[in-house]
Amino acid sequence: MTETKDNIETEKNTLFKYYSKDNIIKYGDIVIAYVTPQSMSSFKVEKGGIYNNRCGSYKHDDIVGKKWGTKIATHTGRGFIYILHPTPELWTNVLPHRTQILYLPDISFISMNLNLKPGDNVIETGTGSGSFSHSIARSILPTGHLYTFEFHEERSKRVRQEFLEHGLEDIITIQCRDASKGFGLKDCIDAVFLDLPAPWDAIPHTIECFKQNKIGKICCFSPCIEQVQRSCASLHKNKFINIRMFEVLTKPYEVRSFSYKPIPEIKLNNNDDIMEVVEPTQTTAIELEPSKVFNLTVSRSATSVRGHTSYLTFADYPKFNDLM
Ligand SMILES: C[S@@+](CC[C@H](N)C(=O)[O-])C[C@H]1O[C@@H](n2cnc3c(N)ncnc32)[C@H](O)[C@@H]1O
Repeated sequence: MTETKDNIETEKNTLFKYYSKDNIIKYGDIVIAYVTPQSMSSFKVEKGGIYNNRCGSYKHDDIVGKKWGTKIATHTGRGFIYILHPTPELWTNVLPHRTQILYLPDISFISMNLNLKPGDNVIETGTGSGSFSHSIARSILPTGHLYTFEFHEERSKRVRQEFLEHGLEDIITIQCRDASKGFGLKDCIDAVFLDLPAPWDAIPHTIECFKQNKIGKICCFSPCIEQVQRSCASLHKNKFINIRMFEVLTKPYEVRSFSYKPIPEIKLNNNDDIMEVVEPTQTTAIELEPSKVFNLTVSRSATSVRGHTSYLTFADYPKFNDLM
């Protein structure tokens, strides 16, 4: 067993690309420690390592050899975590924030509208914390390529290291470069995603990057409407078509149980005098005597909902522009 573990430790981590064939957790794997949808984090499984959360400590050695998805208890038995296989969706929830990041409602909407699919070549800038980069990489696997640009040196170093640790270095090329100076790519790109304070500086440089025999797709992600106006003006000036803008708002629902005490119904006669007081009854509810309190399970929209993140401006670059 130890021999197998040691051998595996030297293997390249490709978990973000593929599910492990044997479904078994090994040393060197990056795992997601899941407690609830609001409480999860990630760590790398190491010999002798300990993972701590507010419920207690978990030995990495106890996790190795278990199946993905196993529930692991603390030594006191007071807390537990589920060990989940990493995915771009889970990574977005646990990654170290060095910038604002994209979340799943925007990621899924943008991926669909840019028509991302296996084999596509994509430009993304700025890379930021790499939240969207992981999802793009998964969409374009196994033959596509993501060229991502980040001009902040420390951020580009940190995210490069993460791509390496996640086994994505052959799918993602990160360059520390100012997007307003161009991308250094020609006739090879299917889609462009710009998450920059001034997308209009980068838009003119995207044109030469698009594949000449195909319609190029672009999305600009901007929190302010003034940025949208300037981006649209630049897209129009540079002969992009189908310029359209969206805002993605989600309304999550949750299931909640609570107790309530209904008030009696008062029946009045024609003179508005009280005729009868009807005590509430609820045959389907669990009645807690003597106070006539009922338990109710309801589905309701979440009380706090993540609101506006950014405006998403999409456009297409038609192939005939370059033939004219
Ligand atoms: C909001 S973050 C991007 C977050 C990213 N979309 C994610 O999901 O993690 C914007 C990034 O753009 C970078 N940036 C701003 N202007 C840039 C430029 N002209 N060229 C390259 N990167 C730029 C910033 O340093 C910052 O890291």
